[in-house]
Amino acid sequence: MIIAIDGPAASGKGTLARRIAAHWALPCLDTGLLYRAVARDVVAASFRPADPWAALAAARGLDLAGLSDPDLRTPAAGDLASIVARIPQVRAALLSYQRNFAAQPGGAVLDGRDIGTVVCPEADVKIYVTASAEVRADRRLRECLARGENVSFEHILADILRRDERDSSRDNAPMRPAHDADLLDTSDLDIEAAFDAAVGLIKRKIGQQ
Ligand code: DC
Repeated sequence: MIIAIDGPAASGKGTLARRIAAHWALPCLDTGLLYRAVARDVVAASFRPADPWAALAAARGLDLAGLSDPDLRTPAAGDLASIVARIPQVRAALLSYQRNFAAQPGGAVLDGRDIGTVVCPEADVKIYVTASAEVRADRRLRECLARGENVSFEHILADILRRDERDSSRDNAPMRPAHDADLLDTSDLDIEAAFDAAVGLIKRKIGQQ
């Protein structure tokens, strides 16, 4: 069973994907981490994140063992990731790893922006997770404050809106729901309620009670 979870920044799709994967004992891939790691490596090599050659070299040489680096989780790393993610050659270089991950015998859960549309168009279940920009900014603010980062709500909201615009306006694999995706708006749901709703959607899709 392949489950594709897509949606904008800070929609809660990562937490949902991990919970769903644990529930059905499936491996889970946060594909945003791949783009975040490519951007980190480009900047570490002193290139601009929009440099197509440097970004392609970083994508081809990506060390998949380095994806647990906590620095990849910061909003600044996400912003840089959305810049390298606009480069078609970078997306192409990361595609086979994502597809191989999805093709594991028992299936897998993948979360990102283009899983249901490009990476796994044949996924058994596709969920597009949304929430209002204000709710997403508020969630992100709480995470940052919990990590001891000193940021303002306005700054985070502006970051989220800029990222939404960049991710949805690119020509190559733009962020959008697949035509056969189920939409899950989590604006008024806490994680437990969002998880219950997602489990309900998945069970209906795969014909479980
Ligand atoms: O999901 P995230 O916030 O970690 O993703 C960071 C950036 O990576 C996101 O703004 C756009 C890019 N991305 C992408 O283009 N395609 C994906 N499947 C996942 C992430």
